[in-house]
Amino acid sequence: MDIVVFGAGSLGSLFGALLARASEHDVTLVGRDPHVAAIRESGLRVTGTDSFTVYPKATTDGTGLAADLALVTVKAFDTEMAARELATGSFRAVCSLQNGMGNEATLARHLDCPVLAGTTSYGAARRDPGEVEWNGQGDLAVGPWEPTDADETAAAVGEAFAIAGVPATVETADEIRRELWRKLAVNAAVNPVTALTRVPNGALGASPGVDLVEPIAREVASTARAVGVAIADEEAVGAVDEVVVATAENDSSMRRDIERGGRTEIDVISGYVVDRADAHGVEVPTNRTLWTLVRTWESARGLRDPASSTDSRPPSTRETESLKAPGGDERV
Ligand code: PAF
Repeated sequence: MDIVVFGAGSLGSLFGALLARASEHDVTLVGRDPHVAAIRESGLRVTGTDSFTVYPKATTDGTGLAADLALVTVKAFDTEMAARELATGSFRAVCSLQNGMGNEATLARHLDCPVLAGTTSYGAARRDPGEVEWNGQGDLAVGPWEPTDADETAAAVGEAFAIAGVPATVETADEIRRELWRKLAVNAAVNPVTALTRVPNGALGASPGVDLVEPIAREVASTARAVGVAIADEEAVGAVDEVVVATAENDSSMRRDIERGGRTEIDVISGYVVDRADAHGVEVPTNRTLWTLVRTWESARGLRDPASSTDSRPPSTRETESLKAPGGDERV
């Protein structure tokens, strides 16, 4: 399969490398220099869980590309840019493997091909140009974002991962939607707390950290139920516990964002929870506090645009307001 991985950050580089290991796949990574220049010169080196070097194509220009599949792995605040660039090319399917909610809606607005949603708990970190550290085997699930006829496309994408030795669960639109909300509970609990306290994920497995993350997960579960996605409190809490244990040594992506002084994905994680909760009259005080704290940090560093009228509420809201699933509930 011809595969474009749009966003050669940690996760994109890892999945690009894993897919490029299979001789059946022709992989092109879209990223930035000096990472792209290093890959072109000496290949992409994976260390950690397994060590190997692959030689995918790599480019800094995401326009005019053509492939069977585009995997989107950019930060959520770059999804609009990615969608616009991908729209100048031609793809049989596009699959978001990003954190947060609303990415698929943005992709669908710009692209004609089927849009798939994906969730993953694979751990990866980028250190030097041309290298990515693989921090443990995680789970991967893909499914059609909307309940259309994209089930076959999702199966083909699952098969493409399986050929490369990456087991992927293929789900229906409703199942992947539940997965997105479960992953939202994980990201809402783990990311802002580890980012603000600068601790590895494992620190949230015991008191006092666990006393904070459990209410966060419960608030997300209440919000999910309010929008029509049946997730029990204990399921959301269990999903967080599982990831905290599986990624105990890892630094969350939001902690890494804050430590490098960059913008975070808080709006499409905690901000999304607050927005949906407000729309449905659900109380989410812990998520609201974390959203405010991280936004305060971003504002103080000039990472948010105070002049923009759209900047004070989560981008996901703007993307979902007009999107209603057949049952009347919102699609993310
Ligand atoms: O954003 C992250 O860091 C990851 O999604 C996760 C699963 C929380 C592990 O660190």
